[in-house]
Amino acid sequence: MNSKFLKSGHIKIYKRENSKFWQMKIKLPKLKAIRSSTGTKILKYAENIALKKFSSLKKYNEIKIKNKSKNIYKKIHLVETEDLNKKEIEFILQEAIKFIKFNKKRIKKNNLLEGRTVFNLFFEDSTRTRTSFEVAAKRLGADLINVAVKDSSINKGETLLDTMTTINSMNPDVLIVRHPEEGISKKISMNVDASVINAGDGSHEHPTQALLDALTIKSRFKNFTKLKIAICGDILHSRVARSNIIILSKLGAKINVIGPKEWLPQNLNKLPVKVFTDMKKGLKNCNIVMMLRIQKERIVGKIMPNEKTYFKKYGLDYNKLQYAKKNAFVMHPGPMNRGVEIDSELADDVTRSLIQEQVAMGVAIRMACLDILIKNRDNVLSY
Ligand code: NCD
Repeated sequence: MNSKFLKSGHIKIYKRENSKFWQMKIKLPKLKAIRSSTGTKILKYAENIALKKFSSLKKYNEIKIKNKSKNIYKKIHLVETEDLNKKEIEFILQEAIKFIKFNKKRIKKNNLLEGRTVFNLFFEDSTRTRTSFEVAAKRLGADLINVAVKDSSINKGETLLDTMTTINSMNPDVLIVRHPEEGISKKISMNVDASVINAGDGSHEHPTQALLDALTIKSRFKNFTKLKIAICGDILHSRVARSNIIILSKLGAKINVIGPKEWLPQNLNKLPVKVFTDMKKGLKNCNIVMMLRIQKERIVGKIMPNEKTYFKKYGLDYNKLQYAKKNAFVMHPGPMNRGVEIDSELADDVTRSLIQEQVAMGVAIRMACLDILIKNRDNVLSY
């Protein structure tokens, strides 16, 4: 038999012994193999026909999922909050609620994802998010592999997509990716068979952070439509701000964005927010004040504000909190710069600060996301 491999081993062009025509075999993971004649004797045309068919099958996100359960989120990746509609967000939050209870048990382990392999691929420093995904995966019984990408072959000139292809060949179920380049998770999702979760791509998006923030808010307030939420600080460089604006406004909350002029992106007017440079005006009637970290690592070659001056104008303390609604809550995705973005005592004040709750909700949200995406991959229908 004469055969020729084209792309990532999923597609094969070959000739049967007694046939004049090229045959194609396409086998994508979890899908039935497709075997058929390309109907041509010429290899070049046979390759084109097979490639066309292959690329139509590769659009995983468009593949229909068997809808036996009440599963509303039917995709196998989670890379952008832009892709989520209100119902899907509500479904993910609802699924996470069962894990909040589970995480309070004495024995915090089940076998929902036993035998599944999850990779943490962090190309940027992270303790909180990486650990949160690790705890989530392990509590569901999955095997989690932490790849210290900073020390890996990425430094030996191997391209990012090559590294992904190598890991893809180990048949992982989920790749969790944090990387400084915007849009990289989406690119990776189009090149691997595993589900991809964006754990932060540059200043672009951080979907699970916004989902965990929404879950934290939901645990305190029943109805998002009655809420006004302030997001304050370095909006320009913050993927957390961007994902939160999208998620919280889709849930019906009103958003005020507050920050120094130079840290307010130009395209804010395309988002459903009101923009302020003054904390007093921006915090008026807000139920939640979400503070952001100054993203020093993304502010290169520009002048950093003096920390004391910044705190005086934009740092949240008890005084400024009075501009918001009585009993308003404070949030911060961490890591915090105490005394710069937020007063240390206020950050630790459990009557006002939801910061520790955000961490707990993070594990529940990530458990729900891993569970939903892996189930969706299992249910991908064959053509
Ligand atoms: C955020 C991030 O990395 O985008 N942190 C996090 O996920 N724990 C916020 C930040 O670093 O400022």
